[in-house]
Amino acid sequence: MARGTFSNRLGFILAAAGSAVGLGNIWRFPYLAGENGGAIFLLIYLACIVLLCLPVMIGEITIGRYSGADAVTTFEKTGGKAWKWLGLYGIVTAVFILSFYCVISGWALEYFVQIAFGNRLAESQGDGAPASLSVTLLYTFIFVALTAWVAIRGINKGIERANRILMPALFIILFGLIFYSLTLPNAWAGLTFYLVPDFGELKPQTIFNGLKQSFFSLSLGTGTLLIFGSYLSKKENVISSSVVIALADTSVAFLAGLMIFPFVFSQNMSPAEGPPLVFLVLPKVFFSLGPVWGKIMGALFFLLLCFAALTSTISLIEGPTGYLVDRWKASRSKAVLAIAAATLVLSIPSVLSQGTFPLFSHLGFYQGRDFLTFISDLCDISLVVWGGLMCVVISQRWTTAKLDDELSLGNSGYRSSWVRSYLRVTLTVVCPLILAMLVILIVCDKFVGL
Ligand code: TRP
Repeated sequence: MARGTFSNRLGFILAAAGSAVGLGNIWRFPYLAGENGGAIFLLIYLACIVLLCLPVMIGEITIGRYSGADAVTTFEKTGGKAWKWLGLYGIVTAVFILSFYCVISGWALEYFVQIAFGNRLAESQGDGAPASLSVTLLYTFIFVALTAWVAIRGINKGIERANRILMPALFIILFGLIFYSLTLPNAWAGLTFYLVPDFGELKPQTIFNGLKQSFFSLSLGTGTLLIFGSYLSKKENVISSSVVIALADTSVAFLAGLMIFPFVFSQNMSPAEGPPLVFLVLPKVFFSLGPVWGKIMGALFFLLLCFAALTSTISLIEGPTGYLVDRWKASRSKAVLAIAAATLVLSIPSVLSQGTFPLFSHLGFYQGRDFLTFISDLCDISLVVWGGLMCVVISQRWTTAKLDDELSLGNSGYRSSWVRSYLRVTLTVVCPLILAMLVILIVCDKFVGL
């Protein structure tokens, strides 16, 4: 069975950046920043990227490229048989993420279609979700099908080609919207909220939220970047590629904030609206633009959100697909279809949780929150646990000597650079310790209620 390979460095970087840039940047980052004090959240988020995420990202790509295989095989090769389960655990998490990610992506698609047809622009009421469950289910299904269609086409014809078009398009649309948002009345108040930190707002929750968001946004902790690494040539420089990916992702999140907060403040709305922020605020903004411009900008924006989401979902499906192809010798199309079917089934409770089914919309054991929130919180924790354990495997089982060997391929100056010491310290001590500490605190906060 021929495995795919990226045609070149740009192909890899675009695919990984496409994976990283998604709803996490444009939908989740703004509402988390809005709920967690704006600028102070941005600062914590940036610190997490430099101190924790970059080393984990480099580690994940490196072990994938070393083994040239799926996550389970990779952990078998680097950590021994006893660590195989970690690969599978990440793969299962990826399917769960897909199951709710496609629901939100479906909302974006529904908004796009509605706005393009001239609806939804009236002062949108309600909680931001599409009107009926069957509509949500239909759009979730369409999104899963789109993902499967691109993924079946493979690495070069599917993932690479889609990203080459979608990523630049996304930047262009985003810049257009920022430009407009900065011309609105009260834009300045939005910028101040977003860029001038108020240290009084710093709470433990701010730190947890910054951490989970940085992992989620960079697509860490499921083996997604690991499987991309396994398609990467030994000639490429993993470190510089990782820095480019992290920069691209962080800049899109930053730009999304730069667009949203002036919009929010110009509408005199609260930045702490929670998950529906983007879906509530933006239709109002587009409405205020009048029927023609509102339609154009609104449709463009939700199209952008769909692009960003699609490049992420095709990456999320790749880890589980690679596993079925490598370990179970499935054909690529069968593997993708099997994962897509599982995703659809798992997405049903998330869809129902957005309606009036108390069974899913009010979880008694989870402070009355809905199933979608529950599953996404659970996945967030799982990413961080996986990341911490991967650092343990690299530093304790595989050893940093092997890491050095692999990182020197495509980067001859690596051994004498300071990056080597930075990675040793972070992967051996800083990441495992801080991640373990934060996981305990997050679990206490969310589940034990301490
Ligand atoms: N990073 C993507 C976003 O910000 C989502 C995503 C894609 C992801 N692949 C992932 C999250 C793997 C966690 C793990 O929207």
